[in-house]
Amino acid sequence: MSKKLFIETLGCQMNARDTEHIIAELNAHNDYTTTDILEEADLIIINTCSVRERPVAKLFSELGQFKKVKKKDAKIGVCGCTASHLGRDIIKRAPYVDFVVGARNVSKISKAVETKGAVEIDINHDETAYAFSEYRKALYRASVNISLGCDKQCTYCIVPATRGEEISISPEFIINEIKKAVENGAKEIFLLGQNVNNYGKYFSNGNGAIVQEKKQKHNFTKLLQEISQVEGVERIRFTSPHPLHMDDEFIEEFVSNPKICKSIHAPLQSGSTKVLKDMKRGYTKEWFLKICEKIRALVPEVRITTDIIVGFPGETDEDFADTIDVIKKVKFDQIFNFKYSPRPNTQAEIMDNQIDDKIATKRLTEVIDLHKIHQSEQMQDNVGKTMKVFFEDLKSNGEIFGFSDNYCQVFVSGSEELLGQIRNVKIISNTRTSLKGKII
Ligand code: 5AD
Ligand code: SF4
Repeated sequence: MSKKLFIETLGCQMNARDTEHIIAELNAHNDYTTTDILEEADLIIINTCSVRERPVAKLFSELGQFKKVKKKDAKIGVCGCTASHLGRDIIKRAPYVDFVVGARNVSKISKAVETKGAVEIDINHDETAYAFSEYRKALYRASVNISLGCDKQCTYCIVPATRGEEISISPEFIINEIKKAVENGAKEIFLLGQNVNNYGKYFSNGNGAIVQEKKQKHNFTKLLQEISQVEGVERIRFTSPHPLHMDDEFIEEFVSNPKICKSIHAPLQSGSTKVLKDMKRGYTKEWFLKICEKIRALVPEVRITTDIIVGFPGETDEDFADTIDVIKKVKFDQIFNFKYSPRPNTQAEIMDNQIDDKIATKRLTEVIDLHKIHQSEQMQDNVGKTMKVFFEDLKSNGEIFGFSDNYCQVFVSGSEELLGQIRNVKIISNTRTSLKGKII
């Protein structure tokens, strides 16, 4: 009988894809299958995030819990970004942890589980040509990595220290992954990278070195064109693009390629040009507004989502008013909002003028409240429209749900024969975050 793996995933979609790779590798090489029951697991893994402080604190309290309830001989492993960042200190602080495998070292997982005390955290390890074993949680939507790491130096961000230098996976390798996913039933491809639209700038030379392409032979737009030619690919999504690289060529492809879903993540972070400069984001408030205006004018049904950090060091009331101004002008369809959290070894950690927590909390509440008003208005506007919905999951109450091209969650009455199908749905009602409709 195979051994049981319990794995918990924190953080972003990159981490979720790493979890799929971990499951696949441990299944293929170490005979593990997954379980949702902690007490019956032979191996417990937490795939961690370190982007803010809270998930890090949560790690140690969870590890303590796992130790209490686990089977006597069950192993515990820590993977992901906090593994990269804290490394051996995790075992020092929690000596019952058996191994630590950082983000970008996932190909070493099979060996690490067999090696008590293993710590694999080389942030520049090159996994761009490693063919991971196959496993995907979702049947119809396949996440595919296109690049690893990040070449930006945003002053608040720990990611360059946990996922290393930016490096693109070769287009041939990506296309091959996509063909395999399509053969296994995927219709929607979700391209992943810290900085997807900077694709093609750095590649591996195969000998462990990263080479910067002076004359870019490949870029994200070209990659999108190639992927949309793959037979069986019906929808393409991607995350995260950087606003700085949303050039005209990219916008034109986004607008005109019918396979590219019309929802886009445009991480603003702050609406203040001064704060953006301190964050080293590389664009201004006006530049960001222009990009959003351009996209909305060309694709009226587009949904634009964003990330916003409030309480960055030195953020004044006027700076925050600029953030509110951008939110009012763009009317984002979804905002992931965060209170600034100082991270070790980042430039912002040692900046003067760290903002009082009470002020940051007040600003966060203001963003949330304003966004709720926009969300309600925008979802209401969808009532009466017809949307193409790709059905991907069942609920227990006789409903089935999926996502429209522009990433609204849509529920209809129906059963499993709709799974994996794209159908026209007439929207009949809404909540602030989802829609209800009828198949037509
Ligand atoms: N504090 C708060 N939010 C952060 N993010 C990244 N680093 C920090 C930090 N130090 C947010 C950014 C990013 C998202 C993934 O997490 O908004 O886009
Ligand atoms: Fe968290 Fe960033 Fe790592 Fe994703 S890349 S798991 S968001 S720290």
